Amino acid sequence: MADLSDAHSAALPAPPSGGCVPRHVALVMDGNGRWAKQRFMPRFFGHKQGVDALVRAVDAFADRGVQYLTVFAFSSENWKRPSEEVSGLMGLVLVAVSKYLTKLAGDGVRIRIVGDRSAVSDKLRSAWEHAEEMTRENTRITLAVAFNYGGRWDILQACRKALSEGLPAQALDEAWLAQHMALSFAPDPDLFIRTGGEMRISNFLLWQAAYSELFFTDCLWPDFGPAQIDAALAAYARRDRRFGAIHPNQVVPEST
Ligand code: IPE
Ligand code: IPE
Ligand code: MG
Repeated sequence: MADLSDAHSAALPAPPSGGCVPRHVALVMDGNGRWAKQRFMPRFFGHKQGVDALVRAVDAFADRGVQYLTVFAFSSENWKRPSEEVSGLMGLVLVAVSKYLTKLAGDGVRIRIVGDRSAVSDKLRSAWEHAEEMTRENTRITLAVAFNYGGRWDILQACRKALSEGLPAQALDEAWLAQHMALSFAPDPDLFIRTGGEMRISNFLLWQAAYSELFFTDCLWPDFGPAQIDAALAAYARRDRRFGAIHPNQVVPEST
């Protein structure tokens, strides 16, 4: 399938250098299984390569001035996969933390985990707490790892907080909900990238991505590197974000 993400803008001139860098990028890291299948390898091999691709991508996004990177690592729906794949992924996260935490911490990456932690093992929970604690002072880039995360879960858990705090209905507004959702520490994502060729959101940041620019690429996640990052950022820089408004230069003065 052709890369339809920005077919219409391919002929446009390159964006002006500097500026126009998204502050926050959301990323659906999809295609590990197909990447492994193409190589006649088990799906787990694709996930393992996917972790290495993520560590490289964090550095590349940070180098380009992105301040927040939120990655979809395991969705609320991924429990539907065969139990061997699910347990393989859980084990892989533990290995990834022990293999890469020191490097990420040294590279100035602040790590946050977002999602429902209640369903994961004590061992995994404490590895995450350790990763968050060890990197809390870092400022180069914030890496939010969405694990056992679903956009619907996120909206629901914020609503539950409102009810359990006895918040009066008239005090519940968009700002209150946003402050009680999993990414309350970050601005809304400016750019939403999905690798692997599917053009859907798969229950990722339903609330926060309301006005994100969408970029879909056929590139399978383990192959996603600096060239693909530059292509996504260049496409973003050419987008015209209006948030429902119109540009001041489009406003025709009313005749008197
Ligand atoms: C994304 O890759 C990683 C996770 C969902 C954990 P997939 O495992 O979905 O790979 P494909 O889509 O089957 O190729
Ligand atoms: C989305 O990918 C979830 C992650 C990348 C973690 P999926 O592979 O689970 O999405 P669907 O099933 O194709 O929608
Ligand atoms: Mg997939």
